[in-house]
Formats: sequence, C-alpha cells, structure tokens
Amino acid sequence: MKVSRDKYLNTIKKLDEIKILVIGDLILDEYLMGEVTRISPEAPVPIVHVKSSRTTLGGAGNVVKNLTAFGIQTGIIGRVGIDEKGKEARSLLKTSNLTDKSIILIENANIPTILKTRIIAAHQQICRVDHEIIQNLSTEEEINILNILSKIIKSYNSIILSDYDKGLLTHSLIEKIINIANENNIYISADPQVSHFFNYKGISIMTPNHHEAGNALGIKLKTDADIENANLDITNRLNSGSMMITRGDKGLSIYTKSDNKHTHIPTIAREVFDVTGAGDTVISLFTAFKSAGFNEIESAIVANAGGGLVVEKLGAETVSRTELFKSLTQAGIFE
Ligand SMILES: Nc1ncnc2c1ncn2[C@@H]1O[C@H](COP(=O)(O)OP(=O)(O)OP(=O)(O)O)[C@@H](O)[C@H]1O
Ligand SMILES: [Mg+2]
Repeated sequence: MKVSRDKYLNTIKKLDEIKILVIGDLILDEYLMGEVTRISPEAPVPIVHVKSSRTTLGGAGNVVKNLTAFGIQTGIIGRVGIDEKGKEARSLLKTSNLTDKSIILIENANIPTILKTRIIAAHQQICRVDHEIIQNLSTEEEINILNILSKIIKSYNSIILSDYDKGLLTHSLIEKIINIANENNIYISADPQVSHFFNYKGISIMTPNHHEAGNALGIKLKTDADIENANLDITNRLNSGSMMITRGDKGLSIYTKSDNKHTHIPTIAREVFDVTGAGDTVISLFTAFKSAGFNEIESAIVANAGGGLVVEKLGAETVSRTELFKSLTQAGIFE
C-alpha cells in the first residue's frame, strides 16, 4: 500500500487550513497514582496513598486531543454537568488549543460531568471509579445543539461524531446532524456504538471495529471475505458514502463506494503496549487527511499507520506529524 510522498507533503500543508468539529460524549479520564503499604482496618481492601494524579480528556475529548496534537484546528460540541469537573473539562479543552468560541458545552444540572477514575499502584490498576448518569438529550437540549450547529457549520470542513453511548448522540440528533451536514456538503464520519449502528443513515463513512460491526450484524467477522460482505451490507443498509472496519492487529479494511472497491490495509509490525484509543486516532487522522485532499484509501493508509503508533504508547495517546512522517518513511509507504 503506497502513498505519494509529494502528495503527502502537499496535503500536510493544507491541513493547516482545515477545521474539524467533533460532536459527541465528552468524558474525563482521571488517574490517581499511589502506593499500597497496608490493608484497611475497615474492609479487606488495600489503602492507596496517592502520590500524583492527572486528568485528561477522554471519549469525544480524546478525538479532540488527537486532532489538536496533529496541529488541526478543532471545535467540540459536548455536554457537561454544572460542577467542578465541567470547569476542568473546559480548561483542558483550552489547554488543547481550542478557542473559547470553538468550545460548545451544553450544561445540564441533572447529570455529573462524566468522570472515569483509575486508581493505580505499582503499575497496576486497582479499581476504576465511574461518575456518570446516562441521560438522553432532552428535546430542549437537542434544539439548542441544532441551532448552534446551523450557525457554525459553515466555518468547518468536516464533522466527526464520537459516540460513547452516554446520551448525547440520540437517534434523533444523529439523523438531524447528518442531514444538516449533507445539506451543507460537509464530510461527516462516525465511530458508532452498536446500539445506534443503523441510525447513521447517510453518513459519509463509519469506522467501527470488527467486534462492533459483527455484533451489529449478528455474525462473527473473521476472514477478509466476511469483512468485505459486512462493509458492503452496512453501506447498503445505511446508504452511506463508504465504510471502514478497523481490525486490531490485522489493520483495517475500507470499502469505497465511488469505485466499488475493497481495500485491506495491514498493520506495520510493532510492539503493542496498549490498544486503548487507537480507534480515536484512526478516525481523527482519516477525517483530517480526507478533508485536506487525500482520497479515502490514502487517508485510510495514513490513519492505519497512526493507529499503529498509538498502540505502542501507554494510555489513550496521540500522534504528531513528525512521528507519522517517520513511521511512513520507515515502513516504505512513500513512493
Ligand atoms: N496490535 C496492533 N498492532 C498494530 N496496530 C494495531 C494493533 N491494534 C490496533 N492497531 C491499529 O489501531 C487501529 C484501531 O484498532 P482497533 O481495531 O482495535 O480499534 P478500536 O477497538 O476501536 O480501538 P479503541 O480502543 O480506540 O476503541 C487498527 O486499525 C490498527 O491500525
Ligand atoms: Mg473504538
């Protein structure tokens, strides 16, 4: 699978002018790192003495992080509670280089800002504590989001729907956002949840992993032929543009409708530490390169290389332009 080096360098320049809007479930990921020195007198559990902590953007926020780490102007529409963590989410988005105007957070007093706290000692996760109430968007919130979207959509080149099944992307909102995007000729990609899979009618492209696609279709996807059938079936059922299934260590497979072609892109062999967040990297880079002028197959090749880079890193991580260029060069992908 080759990509023209000249075209890559030209496209990279165009990325500076691209603006991508992420809409989806914003999550905060918190890590508390400490030491265990004794067992609690209250219950047979370890006491963790916290020595350090950090909080990062997760869910749709991780897509934002991937885009901004690659130097792409980004905006977000998400939802938070009226609480300290909601303020923290806003300030982390600012730290990620988003302008005030491009941070649109709907505040809801009835839900907490979604927070997933990992308690870690001696490099081991001891437990995870989740703060979340999954509440579907109200009609009022939906109207609010759609009004805002109609006003700002023209200043963006593309939209990514980042669905973590936390209530923001309801069936109704998904349908309406895709309609607005299509009316405005804006490329729109989605990383779907199985429960919403067939709500994404008319999407430009979807990027589920092979488990999600298999679950949605009620079959196991094992061979290349299984994946090809699934990609085609989903494209037909959604009347979507194209369709991509990510396949973990097997890379990814894309069906492009314009030329009725299936392309299987293998991973570049590497040492895997943590596959968390690779899907977010793939949809971010894919959408960015597609918006900047690469075709879908070229975009898929570079996004797959990016996904391979983040699995070498611990935690949900991101890829820089320098890292991606080096990886593509070393893997002999440029021609
Ligand atoms: N073991 C691996 N070796 C090399 N690349 C990998 C590996 N696992 C994942 N990748 C890369 O990451 C991409 C996305 O991985 P995967 O199909 O596991 O998505 P996912 O399950 O949605 O990930 P996430 O944890 O973000 O939800 C793959 O298409 C591939 O490019
Ligand atoms: Mg995923």
